Amino acid sequence: NLVVDLADTGIKIQPTMYGIFYEDINFAADGGLYAELIKNRSFEFPLPKMGWEEPHSVRYSLNEGSGFSKITNYVDPQGGNRRYSHTVVHNDETYELFNNGFRGIGVKKDAQYNLSLLLANADGIEQLNVALVDTLGTVLASTEIFPDAKDWKTYEAVFVSNKTEAKARLKITFKGNGTIDMDMISLFPKDTWKGRKNGLRKDLVELLDGLNPGFLRFPGGCIVEGRTLAQRYQWQNTVGPIIERELLINRWNDEFAHKPAPDYFQSFGLGFFEYFLLSEDLGALPVPILGCGMACQFNTGELVPLENLDPYVQEALDLIEFANGDVNTPWGKVRKDMGHPEPFNLKYLGIGNEQWGPEYFQRYEIFAEIIGEKYPEIILVSTPGPFSDGDMFEFGWEQMKKLNVKLADEHYYKSPQWFLDNADRYDSYDRNGPKVFAGEYAAHTPGVEDGPLENNWMAALSEAAFMTGLERNADVVLMTSYAPLMAHAGGWQWAPDLIWFDNLQSYGTTNYQVQKLFANNSGTDLLSITQDGKPLIGEQALYASAVKDTNLNELILKVVNTSNVSRNIKVKIQGGKVQTEGVAVSMAMEDLYAINSFEEPTKVSPQESEIKLDGELLEAEISGQSITIYKIKM
Ligand code: AHR
Repeated sequence: NLVVDLADTGIKIQPTMYGIFYEDINFAADGGLYAELIKNRSFEFPLPKMGWEEPHSVRYSLNEGSGFSKITNYVDPQGGNRRYSHTVVHNDETYELFNNGFRGIGVKKDAQYNLSLLLANADGIEQLNVALVDTLGTVLASTEIFPDAKDWKTYEAVFVSNKTEAKARLKITFKGNGTIDMDMISLFPKDTWKGRKNGLRKDLVELLDGLNPGFLRFPGGCIVEGRTLAQRYQWQNTVGPIIERELLINRWNDEFAHKPAPDYFQSFGLGFFEYFLLSEDLGALPVPILGCGMACQFNTGELVPLENLDPYVQEALDLIEFANGDVNTPWGKVRKDMGHPEPFNLKYLGIGNEQWGPEYFQRYEIFAEIIGEKYPEIILVSTPGPFSDGDMFEFGWEQMKKLNVKLADEHYYKSPQWFLDNADRYDSYDRNGPKVFAGEYAAHTPGVEDGPLENNWMAALSEAAFMTGLERNADVVLMTSYAPLMAHAGGWQWAPDLIWFDNLQSYGTTNYQVQKLFANNSGTDLLSITQDGKPLIGEQALYASAVKDTNLNELILKVVNTSNVSRNIKVKIQGGKVQTEGVAVSMAMEDLYAINSFEEPTKVSPQESEIKLDGELLEAEISGQSITIYKIKM
């Protein structure tokens, strides 16, 4: 028998309790959330023709009747826009230039797509035919462009595809005898999130929105750190005009990833301004994480000497000014010029991702001192490293206490059993030390490399059991997020992930459904739920937590049964009155290996039913392998 006490515990469930961890891994940005469909649109990849193909070309020759496009450097490049394509075509309409998109270009029948090309110096080339073609070369949409200016000029058209195709290509052919320069060849769906031109992929942001996140952590993850210091994520290179943002190799590009992706680069079309805007759209607090002068310790571990740390600290100060500063400050003005004079309300800032050891804390301390002096209101997030226990973890926690850290970012990618065993992890945490941001976690079932199959019910169920423990300890645990967030089914490097997508579709995994359920029923105040005076943590494989929502005037109970047999429970509600009717939202699967998929995107998803109480008593049968949320008005 369980007892829920409606009396105030004095412990608030923070609005940040359930959030999202966004990293540009698994083609989550270019090729994913950032809706651009053309890969290497401005020829900035180190191999500048990567993503482009010219199957019928012969070698460049000034006098021959065929074409060859070469890449030219600007004499005076603007920011990161270093190159353009110089194309020579001699009366040869068989010369075709293709872009393959991100493992194909996904287009939907009757949907509209914004095409744009930046062209200059047309000399003898009178016309460009631009088309979307399917895998057999059949035209899905096309347009003609007549270049009429010597200077760089943007030419635009709208494509309407006559067919749905996941692996279309963009094809350009030329009429005339001469040369033309091309840059920023771009194609976006017209129907983006909030209809913003050249914005974010709508279905993916809708999935994020469904999670009702309390915060958005960005941009990672290991990509924050870089393999080398020079290749770290520098936020200031990701704002301002899109065309000037400097391309960077993605940390998940090749040998360090489970699956190599040599064509993985960051165009930064999705940069810090867009992340802040997305946070605002989702009603989530922005939580940026910055490098701390240490390259990824799993790669080179390159360190900036302490005496040279200033520029790194300055990046953090500048970011705070960009997010919150007055429009008359240099970075506040950049924000205003990008269309957002109002501040972004930055409160949290992470210093370093998964860094550990004395080198990290020496650097963290310098950041904390300088930022604390100028912006005492900003809460810094520190980290004990990518460990969940052991000497280095203990060392990290000692250091964080010494340095008076407010929020500690813990990560754990562990087996489902670990999650069950650790449902009491925070019960014994020091209430006087830093609070916890469980910034990255996911249950990994055996066979981590198997991709979507790993997002099974076994993993999700164990996470749900663990999450009742996070919730029961809401006085210590202030923020939590599953990781990683997204993966392209045709180009991922890490599994499992919360959301899978391809060029046309997307779905939330079993784990997504769990996160959604918890985040949309997080409540505002923690309540006590006990059995014989003790919390329910695995007794008969049952786990429970209880909260109330003072805005909805609702009692919310979460009960997880990880065994395969159903259990009858009796819950006595004391310390106040509740209505005798309510709803139960539950998910139960007999098959622990059940998954959601493109074919069955909501196979594992919640069902709602009505419940009746007998006075203050709730009696219920809890199915085997289930999660149930009871909602009862008070
Ligand atoms: O979430 C994937 C990776 O896991 C993150 O980049 C890193 O922080 C962790 O090791």
